[in-house]
Amino acid sequence: MATLLRSALALRRTPCRSSVVRLLTSSSGASSSSSTTPTSHTPEPEPAPSSAAESPSLVVDRSGLFNTPEHSHGPGAAVETAMAKHIKALIRFRGGPITVAEYMEEVLTNPNAGFYMNRDVFGTHGDFVTSPDISQMFGEMVGVWAMCLWHQMGQPEAVNLIELGPGRGTLMADLLRGTAKFKDFSQKLTVHFVECSPALRKIQRETLKCVAKGGDEATTAKDDQTPDSVPEQISQISGASVSWHFDLEQVPRGVPTIIIAHEFYDALPIHQFQKTPRGWCEKLVDVAEDTSQGLRFVLSPQPTTASKLYLTRRMRWASLQEKAEIEHVEVCPQAMKVTAEIAKRVGEDGGGALIVDYGDDKMVSDSLQGIKKHQFVHVLDSPGDADLSAYVDFPALKHVVQECAVGASAYGPITQSEFLGALGINFRLEALVRNATEEQVEALNLGYWRLVGDGPAPWLDEDDDPNSLPSGMGARYKALVIVNDSCGPPVGFQKL
Ligand SMILES: C[S@@+](CC[C@H](N)C(=O)[O-])C[C@H]1O[C@@H](n2cnc3c(N)ncnc32)[C@H](O)[C@@H]1O
Repeated sequence: MATLLRSALALRRTPCRSSVVRLLTSSSGASSSSSTTPTSHTPEPEPAPSSAAESPSLVVDRSGLFNTPEHSHGPGAAVETAMAKHIKALIRFRGGPITVAEYMEEVLTNPNAGFYMNRDVFGTHGDFVTSPDISQMFGEMVGVWAMCLWHQMGQPEAVNLIELGPGRGTLMADLLRGTAKFKDFSQKLTVHFVECSPALRKIQRETLKCVAKGGDEATTAKDDQTPDSVPEQISQISGASVSWHFDLEQVPRGVPTIIIAHEFYDALPIHQFQKTPRGWCEKLVDVAEDTSQGLRFVLSPQPTTASKLYLTRRMRWASLQEKAEIEHVEVCPQAMKVTAEIAKRVGEDGGGALIVDYGDDKMVSDSLQGIKKHQFVHVLDSPGDADLSAYVDFPALKHVVQECAVGASAYGPITQSEFLGALGINFRLEALVRNATEEQVEALNLGYWRLVGDGPAPWLDEDDDPNSLPSGMGARYKALVIVNDSCGPPVGFQKL
């Protein structure tokens, strides 16, 4: 394994499901700024869109709603985006507030105006930067991990390499480029992207340099075609076949699988609960009393269906101390569902999964945040124009794997720094630096430090604004692995 790690490090670059609820307020979609939304609190006369009609509606007595002061909005804080109008219309249609999970799902993945659906939100000109965009070394190290796992799997002849929420596709491109010369491994891979955003699917196809099978220009996908309507795609980076799916369940079964989920789980909708004298109540999103003031958080007057179902399940896994001390809890049912599906695949088909995201090895309390143009914004401000992201509840994922009891085990979480360190990122940096220009060396060192460092940059001057400079992701981000029990502990997790 050590030789494999070393040779793999001699690689080489220089930085839904989805809601079916349509916008109630706009017939022309996200870009429409005019709205026909009535401003009164009367329910909309239109028939209910399908998912709204099927959702178990919350029985909420509006008169009993309580708006916690720390979650109120200042006057005029919310920007009246098309999505804000849609959310207000949805709340009016329901005749009461919606859950934070419903809000999050609409805001991120509504087909017409969801944050991820129609544009590129990544990079310095976007809203946030992720590890694969910071340095090529991230995707390369994940490639090393995947190749080692393939050896532990007994070098199967065919492997489904699945990435959940691939963003721009940068991680996969670096993985394929880095492992392309290890043909015994790279030629076994079939890439499956699970992606809800049509705009990102198109970018992923470009990043992977996809062409129609055979590479004939006439059959090469045109930009205006969705990947669903094009012939089978081949990545020119490594020759792997690439296909797209809306959720993991659509990816063919029966083939050993390696699954990668980097910053996917944090985008999955969470429910938020709060301990009150009336029991555990659920935080909900409502229209402000003065309708010109946008949206506000309220608490359900009593426990909701979600608190009875999801919170009860989550609390079964909590420690005595957590049960005694915690006042706010976030629960992500979709994360549990996806994890159960991963465990089942890995347990029955063989292979493993790598989940990298931010969070700690404990219950999540109150972590949901909005991010727009590289700044934190209030969760209810500019819905649809800001990302929403929540910490991942790693202990819950581990409990799900355990309860599935399908011959798969979870290892970790360990910090990103420990994970990348165990895979030899420092050797890779050394190799890259040897052939780099001065400018490239600086970029490589900065990228390395951002991936494995912790806290504010050490070269910060006292008078520098820490918010305007990068901080290390090495400790905040964690890696959790789920592997088939026949593989044994995966690289980086052997001592656990
Ligand atoms: C924060 S981005 C991370 C992107 C990428 N993994 C990276 O690290 O740069 C989340 C990704 O998950 C996708 N996504 C979010 N929710 C999804 C869902 N429910 N189903 C499929 N894809 C989803 C987004 O479109 C986006 O590609």
